[in-house]
Amino acid sequence: MEVTKKIGVIGVGKLGQAIISGLIKNNPGIVNNIIGTVNHLESIEKVKKVFNINVSNDNINLVKNSDVLIIAVKPQNMSDLMTQINPYIDGSKLIISVAASITTNFIAQRLTEKIPIIRAMPNTPCVINKGMTALSASANCSKEDLQLASSIFEVVGETVIVDEYLMDGVTALSASGPAYLYVIIESLAEAGVKLGISREVSTKLAAQTMLGAASMVLSSKSHPALLKDMVTTPAGCTIDGLMELEEGKLRVTLIKAVVLAAKRARELVNN
Ligand SMILES: NC(=O)c1ccc[n+]([C@@H]2O[C@H](COP(=O)([O-])OP(=O)(O)OC[C@H]3O[C@@H](n4cnc5c(N)ncnc54)[C@H](OP(=O)(O)O)[C@@H]3O)[C@@H](O)[C@H]2O)c1
Repeated sequence: MEVTKKIGVIGVGKLGQAIISGLIKNNPGIVNNIIGTVNHLESIEKVKKVFNINVSNDNINLVKNSDVLIIAVKPQNMSDLMTQINPYIDGSKLIISVAASITTNFIAQRLTEKIPIIRAMPNTPCVINKGMTALSASANCSKEDLQLASSIFEVVGETVIVDEYLMDGVTALSASGPAYLYVIIESLAEAGVKLGISREVSTKLAAQTMLGAASMVLSSKSHPALLKDMVTTPAGCTIDGLMELEEGKLRVTLIKAVVLAAKRARELVNN
């Protein structure tokens, strides 16, 4: 579905830029239909250096001139922002919030008009069209609203629709996830360096291996344990590496990291 609506991105920070950049790469013509806002005047110039879009710190003007509002400010800024834009929200708008921890109910309670609200949780690989976005919708969203939101994020990667109560878990898994995986790539590359391989080659070996393994999981639809078994020759070297990972509690550490991040995601709105 082609996105022809006027899109306003409130908060052109790291994630806002990732989304805009993906949208423009896929459809350069969309640039005239995107406007953005930031908080500080000095940020305007920074964004203008990256994108040729209309960017300002005027949220009211943005709301008046957009059909779809993608809100990408920090969770802590959401309440004040809603109070500011509420008088200008009419029934024609669709809100898509990417703020971690902020529920559709939180937003609805701060708006006079009962408009459809979508909660989306993308991740930064959206910038290279390899994003993963989970979406959930307020009860008053139509199928078309959800389809429109999906089509915005589909151009920058894959999408799934989940019940809203799962969103903090999604935040901790796929939105924070790239950070965990960068640490793993960095560590594997350090191992290569320790073994005498150049950092450049080590990093390529580690990153492409992660990409290949992830692609195998997605394309084969096999359980990761089965794919692991395919690599693990009896009395070979992989089993020694796996034993070391078990001793270092890699699995439980990753599980606990995601569970803790989900707990933090639930708290973000308050501080
Ligand atoms: N980063 C991720 O990977 C990721 C993934 C999923 C979801 N998210 C969510 O996305 C949101 C943004 O995260 P981020 O990492 O992109 O943060 P960020 O880089 O700090 O960006 C926040 C942006 O919001 C702007 N802003 C703040 N208050 C504003 C206001 N009242 N009006 C207009 N713009 C305002 C800031 O402008 P200034 O720069 O001028 O202060 C900045 O451009 C958060 O809610 C986060 O939970 C992030």
